[in-house]
Amino acid sequence: MSILITGGAGYIGSHTCVTLIEAGYEVIIYDNLSNASHESIKRIEMITEQDITLIEADIQDKQALHKVFETYTIDAVIHFAGLKAVGESVQKPLTYYQNNIAGTLTLLEVMQAHHCKQIVFSSSATVYGDPASCPITEDFPLSATNPYGRSKLFIEEILRDMYRSDTEWKIVLLRYFNPIGAHPSGTIGEDPNGIPNNLVPFIAQTAIGKRDSLAIFGDDYDTHDGTGVRDYIHVMDLAQGHLDALDRISTFSEVMTINLGTGKGYSVLDVLKAFEKSVGKTIPYHIAPRRPGDIASCYADPSYAKKILGWQATRDINQMCQDSWRWQSNNPNGYNKEAQ
Ligand code: NAD
Ligand code: UD1
Repeated sequence: MSILITGGAGYIGSHTCVTLIEAGYEVIIYDNLSNASHESIKRIEMITEQDITLIEADIQDKQALHKVFETYTIDAVIHFAGLKAVGESVQKPLTYYQNNIAGTLTLLEVMQAHHCKQIVFSSSATVYGDPASCPITEDFPLSATNPYGRSKLFIEEILRDMYRSDTEWKIVLLRYFNPIGAHPSGTIGEDPNGIPNNLVPFIAQTAIGKRDSLAIFGDDYDTHDGTGVRDYIHVMDLAQGHLDALDRISTFSEVMTINLGTGKGYSVLDVLKAFEKSVGKTIPYHIAPRRPGDIASCYADPSYAKKILGWQATRDINQMCQDSWRWQSNNPNGYNKEAQ
């Protein structure tokens, strides 16, 4: 089976490529490298000992997409490509809607033209907005507070409309909680641009001395220690979830919407402590005001994933932090070797 992986050079995509290749799938990566590099492809090749086909192009480029489907027999698409920075999406809504939504429309149009009707889409727990309670099941009400989140909600709706128009479509919407961690080899991982927005990349850069101190955004939330609680999930478990979804996709007779989380909530201080254990030293932090738009708690009920995909997360928070730290300490400047 040949799988087109849009955004396959990025953080979650690169790990998923490794997992799929090791399971015997052929992968073709389609990425414009707007948030990734050739180096991540080389690293995937190192781990898998296989040559990777990279099509360096944009999902908004209809001609380039047609050419891919004319050149290769594509059985299914995993669609990771998209912009993902919440703050930036508030500043540049049109850029986000153009890239994420218009890009997805172009991809779907080309898939339809070539009778490729199987797609796994990267959605996010952000579509639950500020949930009334936790754990969150897939039937919770949906909302979004920023253009990034709305792009995910709209794309989910567009995909449901595709299915209503033609029930031959096989569609899986995977709602990820908070992916962290890295491949256990420490050769691929998350490589944020500039100052990281997300917690674990910031902790990792503080641990290595690139940042002075972690700002903890609020310690007065209604949680066990006052800091925000999230469902952190190892990126390798997430990758396995994509493999399990692909293995079963042809059997689905409706749009499948599935949470990928561990079902456990950890606070900012819990994660910091686990990371300190991996590093073997304390990491400086200070309490800062709440970050606008943040919620107190968010964690999944992952039981539907177990029922439908036979999937459950197997790696705990210590392993997530150990693997994040291995990646960070082996690659202090991410994939940018020249800066190292
Ligand atoms: P990432 O930025 O590392 O990967 C996205 C990849 O898509 C990058 O390699 C980028 O170059 C590529 N890309 C972006 N726009 C493109 C376009 N127009 N054409 C071709 N390629 C394009 O991000 P990630 O963390 O790996 O996330 C992958 C997907 O999962 C995204 O859709 C993201 O919104 C979603 N998601 C991520 C998280 C998270 O915390 N990382 C959580 C929930 C959902
Ligand atoms: C963020 C995104 C969300 C996306 C999710 C997964 C925002 C507002 N939301 O969510 O849309 O789906 O990532 O990629 O960006 N924290 C600190 N200090 C920091 C960074 C984070 O205390 O320097 C805290 C946050 O307040 C939060 C927790 O750590 O309580 C996790 O933050 P983060 O990693 O940014 O993820 P989310 O806020 O869950």
